[in-house]
Parts: sequence; structure tokens; C-alpha cells
Amino acid sequence: MKPREIVPDVHYVGVPDFDRRLFDALIPLPDGTSYNSYLVRGRDKTVLIDAVEPQVLPVLQSYLEGIPRVDYVVSNHTEQDHSGGLPWVLERYPGIQILSSEPAKPMLTDHLGLDAAKIRTVADGERLDLGGKTLRFIYTPWVHWPETMSTYLEEDKILFSCDWFGAHIAQTDLFADCRECILAEAKRYYAEIMMPFRKIVQKNLDKIKDLEMRFIAPSHGPIHRDPGLIIQAYRDWTDDKPHNAVVVPWVSMHGSTALLVDRLVAALVERGVSVFPFNMATADIGQLAMALVDAATLVVAAPTVHVGPHPMVHNAVVLANALRPKVRFASIIGSYGWAGKMADIVLAAMPNLKVELLPSVIAKGLPKPADLEAIDKLAATIAAKHAELGLAR
Ligand code: FEO
Repeated sequence: MKPREIVPDVHYVGVPDFDRRLFDALIPLPDGTSYNSYLVRGRDKTVLIDAVEPQVLPVLQSYLEGIPRVDYVVSNHTEQDHSGGLPWVLERYPGIQILSSEPAKPMLTDHLGLDAAKIRTVADGERLDLGGKTLRFIYTPWVHWPETMSTYLEEDKILFSCDWFGAHIAQTDLFADCRECILAEAKRYYAEIMMPFRKIVQKNLDKIKDLEMRFIAPSHGPIHRDPGLIIQAYRDWTDDKPHNAVVVPWVSMHGSTALLVDRLVAALVERGVSVFPFNMATADIGQLAMALVDAATLVVAAPTVHVGPHPMVHNAVVLANALRPKVRFASIIGSYGWAGKMADIVLAAMPNLKVELLPSVIAKGLPKPADLEAIDKLAATIAAKHAELGLAR
């Protein structure tokens, strides 16, 4: 492969991965992903930015075949899909220095066994003159590990952002010119990786707000040549105000919980509330995570298996708890055969969610008229709570 020019002396040396279907052994990737690295050449020094996932290292090696000298490799983020190639880069260029944030240095030695003497830490705001091209290092912690930083190329106004502003898309085109595609897959990535750190992401957005940017070049997915689009999307996703929407992860074994869910969906729709039900037996949990980015309310709907919630719904609750969405309200509905502690176990699985708990509706077997009336009442309560937040349509 040959490096691909973005602007003169700045090249893409990344790898689209069309076949990857799961990230972190967790989130489905319907459109694959990519691991991006970049090569920046000044008059005096050459820099590689990030060093790809080990599985695709041969492609990075082919890009660098005709590049006899690289002086620095910037490690914006320690996670192995961006640093896995570093050991090989150190072998290929024995005189090279790794540039990282201060907190990244011990992480690079822990995760990759790198020689600490090869790592030079850079300070927040420090500049590096390459000869006609100047890199500025900007600490952007918790997008999404504590050590993450971004690298800004001043002359060409390119922000190399690593994970944040990234998207799980494999494509051969360099640029993110399909606006709908990029926003959907960037939201999937934000939901899984960045959402737990929403407040810190807001601070990082403030930190870069005065940077003039022609391009944002992330380490997953295509390059943004309309940086305002993805920055505004991040502003919207991290905004404190949720949408007038309810997310319902559910499963039904014999139809009882499904009846409750159907009734709830209809009752909410009648009241002008958007509903995103996910049958966890078949759902793409990436879409569940995406819906949680904006929703004001989570309603967990589970039948009882032995004494607890159906495991697939329990998993959805554990995931929501880990992702810490901005939901303000929650309720638990479902059914049981003879007895159980389903609602208690669900509640215990979501301590991170700072929600007002709304009444539960738990039916014994087939829902009776009183259960369905209770669902209508729950829908009315949810609509009223949303209206109090100024969310009603
Ligand atoms: Fe794409 Fe946090 O690694």
C-alpha cells in the first residue's frame, strides 16, 4: 500500500477492516471499522501518529516500506488498537522516540512491555517543530481512557483526535462525506465508549472550541472535512437535556411481558412520547446503546426466570448501568409465574443510574385489566414527567 495524501506532506496510512463484526467482544459493527495512522513530514523530522491494531500491522508495514526514517511516533492513546504496532515500529526505526502524555507512559510499559527509555512525555500544550510543520499536543483525558491526548497540526489545521470523533466504518474513501452514515456510526461509537464520560467530554469540547480546524482525523472511520458536523453532534449527545423518548429493553417467554410492552408502547405513543423497544433476544445492543444516548426514561421489561429477571434483559440493564446514560426516570415492568425477586434484582443492577424510580407493574402470569390500567397510568406519569422537563412535543 502507498500512503495517501490528505494535504501535502500529511498522509493517511490506516487500514479499513471490512470484516470485523464485533468490537470489544461486545458491540456489533454492521459496517466494519478502521484503524487509522497518519504520517506527517516536516523539513527536518517525520512523525507517525498512532500505530494500528496488531492484526492489521502488515498493512502498516507495507505503507512504511519506502519510508527509511521516522523520528517520532505519537501515541495519542494506549489501547492496543492504536498502539499494538508500536513494538514493531521501535524495531523498524531504532532511533525513534515515542511521544505520549505523562499518564500514558506507565500504561504503555504495562500494556505493551515497551522500554520506558524510548518514551518521551509531552506536556499539555507543548509544541514540536518538525520544520515547517508544528505539532501541538492537547491533553484530552477520558476520551476514553485517562491518558488520552489529541495532536493538532497547526499549519494544516488538522486535529488528530484518536478515538473521539471516530466512527466504526470501513470504507476506501478518505473522507466522511456521507453525513447520515457518519453520524449513525459515530453515535454508535460514542454510545459505547464515550457516554460514561459525558461530562468530561463536554469539558474537552470546550477545550478545543477555539481551535481552527480544516479536518478532524480520528483513528477509527473516515476523516471529517466538515468538523462542525461531528462537533455539533458531540455537543448534542453530551447535552444535559434528554429527549422526549423512552427506551424499553424487553424479552417475553410466553407472551405476558410482551402484552405489557405493547400496551406501554401504544399508551406512550398516544401521549406524544417516542419509544424505542428492543427485544433483547434479537436486538443489536449497539442500537440499544445509541437509543440510550438521548432518552429521558428507561423502562426495563422482563419475565421471571427462576427468581430473577430473564438474563438477556439483565444483561441490557448491566450494560445501561456501565454506559451511564443521562436518563432521568426508570421503571420496571414484567411478569412472573409463581413468585420472584425480578424487580429487586433489576434495581440492584443499576446503581449508576441517577434516576427517579417510577412505579413498577409486575403481572402474575397473563396481565389482567388492572395490570393494563397500571401500564396506562405509568405511561401518563412518564409523559407528565417529561412535560415537567419541558420535553413534551
Ligand atoms: Fe480505539 Fe480506545 O481504542
